[in-house]
Amino acid sequence: MRLLIKGGTVIDPANKINQAADVLVEDGKIKAVLPGGAGAPADVEVLDASGRLVVPGLIDLHVHLREPGFERKEDIASGTRAAAMGGFTSVACMPNTNPVADTRSVIEYIRTRALKTGVINVFPIGAITRSSEGRELVEMGDLRDGGAVAFSDDGRPVSSAQMMRLAMEYSKIVNLPIISHCEDLTLSEDGLINEGYWSMLLGLRGIPAAAEEVMVARDLILAEMTGCRLHLAHISTEGSVRLIEAAKGRGLAVTAEVTPHHLTLTDAVNANYSTNNKVNPPLRSEEDRLSLIRALRDGVIDIIATDHAPHTREEKDCEYDLAFFGITGLETALPLVWTELVEKQALTPEQLIAAMTVKPAGVIGIDRGNLTVGADADITIIDPGLELTVNAEEFVSKGRNTPFGGMKLRGWPVATLVGGRLVMRERKLLA
Ligand code: DOR
Repeated sequence: MRLLIKGGTVIDPANKINQAADVLVEDGKIKAVLPGGAGAPADVEVLDASGRLVVPGLIDLHVHLREPGFERKEDIASGTRAAAMGGFTSVACMPNTNPVADTRSVIEYIRTRALKTGVINVFPIGAITRSSEGRELVEMGDLRDGGAVAFSDDGRPVSSAQMMRLAMEYSKIVNLPIISHCEDLTLSEDGLINEGYWSMLLGLRGIPAAAEEVMVARDLILAEMTGCRLHLAHISTEGSVRLIEAAKGRGLAVTAEVTPHHLTLTDAVNANYSTNNKVNPPLRSEEDRLSLIRALRDGVIDIIATDHAPHTREEKDCEYDLAFFGITGLETALPLVWTELVEKQALTPEQLIAAMTVKPAGVIGIDRGNLTVGADADITIIDPGLELTVNAEEFVSKGRNTPFGGMKLRGWPVATLVGGRLVMRERKLLA
């Protein structure tokens, strides 16, 4: 089968391409990237991409697919379809399922289910400690052999520094990164939103920036000591950015991510008391937000990851302090960052695409996120001019918990190809 994606602008940061070009796909692989205007080869199906951007399939390293155990919130079938709607061709899924992905059998179960019911590539992340309780290390080698691409107790921190040190030493032996959820529970305890002006004014208990920063500092120190590959999840404060910048300045192998919601919202939105804004780490101040954008632009923060955290209506439609933390993010990530950062010239299109393709691939060491000849034809087509209003009731995800409902956004994905197969076309799922 041969397919020619014709007439678009190809942005492939891995190969330093940003120009009018056609992409030829054959047998699920990238066959050629042809400078625009060349005639179509014979016997090809043509996919018209005029006026659109053709980029490597987006990769999201921080997704809660919730299966096994929390299928009421999401499952692999719905979560991977939501990802395809968002332009993602690969996701790494967090282990805070039930049971926790702390054994090889759960990792293998997720991979098997993904092959059977999923529509994109799924890379499971194993827990760091059994049941993510912070007391006993998982069998890291076994999890890696079962297909785990990293280790994380995301959702909660590894509170013991000694346990984290051990985890880093063993993760180095099995050559996989540790993804750290940086939170000092003694500082964040029972907090609901960012500690500051708004928590005071609204009477909602605060989570100080320091709850994140002391753990970022600790993990950077331990990463330097052990030489492990450390990836810092959902960085939200200016102080964390300063610590990461200093660590990178000394040559540490550390990477960091930021979510679309921390890049675009501040704690001021909590004035409506909507539980859709309740997320961990919390939405921070405008100074924090601007420093996250600068950090992403300057490469201090490497990637954008959604922390897609779907919950049921009951888990969100309740008293503020009882509501679950989390935002459903897969279907709004790209247009949100496109509209709020690229259109406002805080980020170039190349920087955005790199932060959502080749850079996340590098963090977990997979050969994806590029349009190199011979690579799997994972491709996303974006319409920069298409404007749509976010309507959570139309989400493919089971989650409806978004603070972005009603927003007019541009830069929507209009086609998602996984291994050369069209999974989404013109905002309709084909799978
Ligand atoms: O808001 C969040 N929701 N933050 C986390 O760290 C976990 C996540 C979840 O699993 O719902």
